[in-house]
Amino acid sequence: MNSSIKNICCIGAGYVGGPTMAVIADKCPEILVNVVDVNEERINLWNSLDLDLLPIYEPGLDKIIKKRRNKNLFFSTELKDNISKADMIFISVNTPTKKKGVGAGKASDLKWVEACARQVAKYSKGYTIVVEKSTLPVKTAEVIKTILEASQLFSKKKDQQFDVLSNPEFLAEGTAINDLEFPDRILIGGEKKEAIQVLTEIYSKWVPKKKILHTNIWSSELAKLTANAFLAQRISSINSIGALCEATGADVREVARAIGSDSRIGSKFLDAGPGFGGSCFKKDILNLVYLSNHFGLKDVANFWEEVVLLNNWHQHRISKLIIKKLLGTVTGKKICILGFAFKANTNDTRESASINICKDLLEEGAVLHIHDPRVEPNQIEYDLGKKENKEIKKKNHNYFEFEGHWCFEKDIVNSSDGADAIVVLTEWHEYSKIDWTEISKKMRKPSWVFDARSIVSTLKVLEANLNLWKIGDGTNN
Ligand code: NAD
Ligand code: UGA
Repeated sequence: MNSSIKNICCIGAGYVGGPTMAVIADKCPEILVNVVDVNEERINLWNSLDLDLLPIYEPGLDKIIKKRRNKNLFFSTELKDNISKADMIFISVNTPTKKKGVGAGKASDLKWVEACARQVAKYSKGYTIVVEKSTLPVKTAEVIKTILEASQLFSKKKDQQFDVLSNPEFLAEGTAINDLEFPDRILIGGEKKEAIQVLTEIYSKWVPKKKILHTNIWSSELAKLTANAFLAQRISSINSIGALCEATGADVREVARAIGSDSRIGSKFLDAGPGFGGSCFKKDILNLVYLSNHFGLKDVANFWEEVVLLNNWHQHRISKLIIKKLLGTVTGKKICILGFAFKANTNDTRESASINICKDLLEEGAVLHIHDPRVEPNQIEYDLGKKENKEIKKKNHNYFEFEGHWCFEKDIVNSSDGADAIVVLTEWHEYSKIDWTEISKKMRKPSWVFDARSIVSTLKVLEANLNLWKIGDGTNN
């Protein structure tokens, strides 16, 4: 067995594979890191000379790519060669919710993970440590092992030998580089002490040893799902209290501060918002629900499913509330949407609250002008299932012609011209600096600002003679 790793291959160049491997390459210049993906377009973007074109926007990522790319960090579509040369392989592919068949709508679709295991079985040589980086249901390591063991038994390559480890990733988008460089903990689950030690050695190049936790493989897989479930649960909890604040005259920020001062509760992850988005919270909780049902724990399943149901309810609650405040109808009304990413500092829109809220408003006939500093219009088209209609931007038209259509906006001030409402759905810093007096002059009266992120200044909006709805604020609504 190798005591130290010289050549890593990561399968999957996505939001996890890309940044994670960039940081490993940066912290371990002696290790050669190859990131491979079947998506040629994505790989080309990772290799683009213009660092603004990297497929993922993540603060600080461009600097590391510039420093390490084509030195000890390579992006390619060449799976066979890179797998065969690697002594450690990270599986970092997508594990979305199954769309059909048994467990549809809840269980994770593991076809990409299985495909990886088969590729590893086919191409790897000698002793290889296979690391689960993707978030996986408990017991997935068994599936991977079964495929690898079958290969050992039946292939002609008699030198093949494997160990499988679970090493879930806890980075959050928008802060990925900081989270990878200064993690709260690194979790490594496995059976073989020697293999765990080899992976530990890599992380200990920059992570204090006391932060590297070792568990059995099933605890590690389950801990990742549990962490996301607990985090998402806090958001549904605070959003449920936000609705109650609006009904009672309380303010959710004050309630959050009061409860967050209790060290047992803690102050993080208590920001009321438009509901959690992102590719993982919903999918990982639904996975937990599926697993609980599978093991006959129906009450446990129901408990966790409520976190997702409340999140859905909350997003539709915001759409309904906008319609109600705009005199009961948004048909033919111009509404500016500020923010389409699921959170600030990322270009990722997966499960963004903006998708559901925009779809609801379009369904009601609103004309949406959508702004986001990092999301491309073609991504919005994909998410809304509706083409952008650039005709809307022509001056002096009748808005009723464009009921249920949307267009992309680069300039917030121009887009507010004739608008009935501005809805802030992502907490981009630039939205906190908007000149509301200038905007107010352009909007049609009565005009509304809906702040689902508590990011605008209440005083400045009210001074500009705009009506304001702020999430969880019962003092002003
Ligand atoms: P992603 O969709 O951005 O990237 C996955 C990549 O894997 C894609 O580029 C895809 O083309 C590639 N791929 C799929 N099958 C392949 C195969 N057989 N061979 C080569 N390439 C293949 O996904 P992501 O957001 O990076 O998430 C990956 C995993 O990490 C998921 O399990 C997710 O739950 C978990 N995770 C994600 C985050 C996050 O912030 N996005 C954080 C922690 C954990
Ligand atoms: C989340 C976890 O935070 C990561 O630890 C985990 O690795 C990752 O999921 C994953 O497994 O994919 P991420 O989804 O990137 O990370 O971003 P978060 O910061 O957790 O935000 C998720 C959603 O919750 C966003 O829509 C955000 O706006 C919302 N949120 C977050 C709130 O509404 N309020 C808060 O207080 C915090």
